[in-house]
Amino acid sequence: MNKAARARLIEIAQDVMQHAAAKTFRTAESTMTLPASMYTDQQRFQDERTKLFRRVPLMLAASCELRNSGDYKTMDVAGVPILLTRDRSGVAHALVNICTHRGAPVASGAGNATRFVCPYHGWTYGIDGRLAAVASAKDFGEIDKACFAMRRLPVHERYGLIWVTADPAAVLETDRFLGDFGEALGGFGFESWHLVERREMPGANWKLAFDAHLEFYHLPVLHRNTFGPTTNNQALYFFNGPHERLIRPIGLEKPGITADADIFQWCDRPVTDWPIEAMLLGEWILFPNVSINSFYTGGRGVLISQILPGATVGESITIQSYFMQNEPDAEQLVAVRANCEFLARVVRDEDLTNSYNQQRALGSGLLKEVCFGRNEAGGQHFHCWLDAVLATPDDALNTLFTDHADQPLGSGRSLRLDKQC
Ligand code: FES
Repeated sequence: MNKAARARLIEIAQDVMQHAAAKTFRTAESTMTLPASMYTDQQRFQDERTKLFRRVPLMLAASCELRNSGDYKTMDVAGVPILLTRDRSGVAHALVNICTHRGAPVASGAGNATRFVCPYHGWTYGIDGRLAAVASAKDFGEIDKACFAMRRLPVHERYGLIWVTADPAAVLETDRFLGDFGEALGGFGFESWHLVERREMPGANWKLAFDAHLEFYHLPVLHRNTFGPTTNNQALYFFNGPHERLIRPIGLEKPGITADADIFQWCDRPVTDWPIEAMLLGEWILFPNVSINSFYTGGRGVLISQILPGATVGESITIQSYFMQNEPDAEQLVAVRANCEFLARVVRDEDLTNSYNQQRALGSGLLKEVCFGRNEAGGQHFHCWLDAVLATPDDALNTLFTDHADQPLGSGRSLRLDKQC
């Protein structure tokens, strides 16, 4: 990690500790309203699929998911079928998962392969998407195989994660999009972690599903039966371009947490001694649709949640993937799986069930605006950025992310977080 990223992590950790000691936190300058139709309008939904999900780099996998040559996984991202692979030289590829003969997906699920054989007529593709063989080639007729490779998508492997833009013609540069946030995120070292559990859960509009990751305000109420009614509902927000971190202004109380992971045990020691793990506390939000939360049950782990738009404005998929820093033994695995089931219950039975109820209610058209409180600055920041991206033409996208690399958006929706409560 470079010096600037480490300095920023230290600055954030010190700020959190100061607020924890003083029992204070910051809020946004004002509340913010948005049209409720943004959750129900079909045209808005189509714009989000094409102008957001197909134009910005999306974190689609941890590098450790494709650890070996031939490892692959498939996904559907805003209507784009994607095949992620790793070739023999260790390079990750993102391919449009469509056979160039007549359009069947060539792979499904995840696994390890040396080639992909299309299930329709049997054309064979290499792990990098080149067309290796045409079935019954003499009968089929002469073609230039080089012109029938699977289409490639922009892919960048950075900080132990794999970022893909779901449009072969995308112009936004991944490094500009990530800014310093990526360098700090690299402190986790996800390239050497281990995928332990994964589950997919349907929900309502993707923003209703994702909004619940952007504030702690709802925790003691919606999650009173799981996290408990006395759960702290305050968050400190730290923004970096469109990305953000949410950190509670209180000491950590996580079961199984080690001293190396608990920044509050280091406050009296020189910052040069602070372990990197302790400075990565809190929830990390990777714009526009990923959250990362740390847990210590059965060993150090993270839950990575990816929220993807579904086929209609009222549908989404939440993919929960649980990674551990070290491969768990049998006893740890029991504890980790129980924690994963608990986290699935929280999100599926509480957050996503609530999202369906919101969707139905908003569908009535009888609430014209929704309101984000001063204590919901994370949601304010996210929605400002979402609107900004949708309004920006292709040729200005790189400028948008460069100009706002380390500051919240202003212009009528100020997010100056300079007020103490
Ligand atoms: Fe793939 Fe025909 S559609 S071989």
